[in-house]
Amino acid sequence: MKTTKMKSKVFISIVSLLLVGVFMIPLAGCTADNTAKESKANTSAADKAKADGIDYMVLVNKTNKLPDDWEKKLETVTFTNSVKDRVEVEKKAYDAYLKLKADLEKDGVKVDLDSARRSVKEQQRIMDDFTKEYGADYAAKTVAKPGYSEHHTGLALDLYLIVDGKDITENEDMIKYTDIWDTIHSKLADYGFILRYLDGKEHITGYGYEPWHIRYIDDVNKAKVITDKGITFEEYLGKAKSADLKIDYGKSKIYSKEDLEDAVIQLKCQFANYEGSVLKNIRYAGDKVFTNKNLKWINKKDPEAKYTQVVEFFTDFHTPKDTKGTTLEPDHEYKDYQWWLARTEDDGWQVVSFGY
Ligand code: DAL
Ligand code: ZN
Repeated sequence: MKTTKMKSKVFISIVSLLLVGVFMIPLAGCTADNTAKESKANTSAADKAKADGIDYMVLVNKTNKLPDDWEKKLETVTFTNSVKDRVEVEKKAYDAYLKLKADLEKDGVKVDLDSARRSVKEQQRIMDDFTKEYGADYAAKTVAKPGYSEHHTGLALDLYLIVDGKDITENEDMIKYTDIWDTIHSKLADYGFILRYLDGKEHITGYGYEPWHIRYIDDVNKAKVITDKGITFEEYLGKAKSADLKIDYGKSKIYSKEDLEDAVIQLKCQFANYEGSVLKNIRYAGDKVFTNKNLKWINKKDPEAKYTQVVEFFTDFHTPKDTKGTTLEPDHEYKDYQWWLARTEDDGWQVVSFGY
């Protein structure tokens, strides 16, 4: 994920923080004895939190936010990448990344890190920038809600490629290098990394395929199991069950298969909010749904959006025993559950309405 703009702003704020820190030193020297003791106690509490360590198997996704005490325990390193951006990474993840990078270089593959640990504020800035530049539909399947990004952990790393001496940092350019990604992915588990957002598993991970987003789990054996089985981290942790998902795109005279595939990815990313629900079936409702009446109805939901087309899909799924945080019935078989998506002016799809 290209985040250069955001990172330079963050760098400025780090510089200002450092300056504040420098000017604060003499003041700290003037504080009363009590304050000094308090700050010593705080330091040792912080040291203890760090010594307890972070949980390298932590799950942060659409329905599981960053644990509250995470920052206290996190230890990071910061370095400058080949495009001169500052990148912050969890300590052990960084060591493992350097080993992976060296191994890849033996095979003639050069990578660098575009983005790793991000603050909630930085994630918000990325969300705003992506929404403005590419539209809310693209942002929805690409950028996590602030507070719910795996990048907050410092354990999620976005790679970029260096091909023939050129930095390839844009998502749409990087994705074309399928052979290089295959080589990279084949080595991840050896260093305790997994690929996080798998192609076809958007209904579990909540995001579109991202070959560049890798996640450190600090356990080579577990990483190998996850990789060999081709499962998501959610499935490995028992938070999601695999099902043989069938998708019927029907026969459309209006849309190409790619159009409908794009719409289905948006639907699946939204479905991931139903944690633990097993999606079994997605069916295109047919061209008959694209009527003036339906287009008018969907446009009324967001008069500013100016939707140009409308599609409907039916889904069948089973909910888990605990559906807290949703309006779904627990342990229930949902049949013909509807999803309405509208086409935006920039040709993306947005989930506008769903339910019975
Ligand atoms: N690109 C991933 C989903 C994030 O924003 O955390
Ligand atoms: Zn990422």
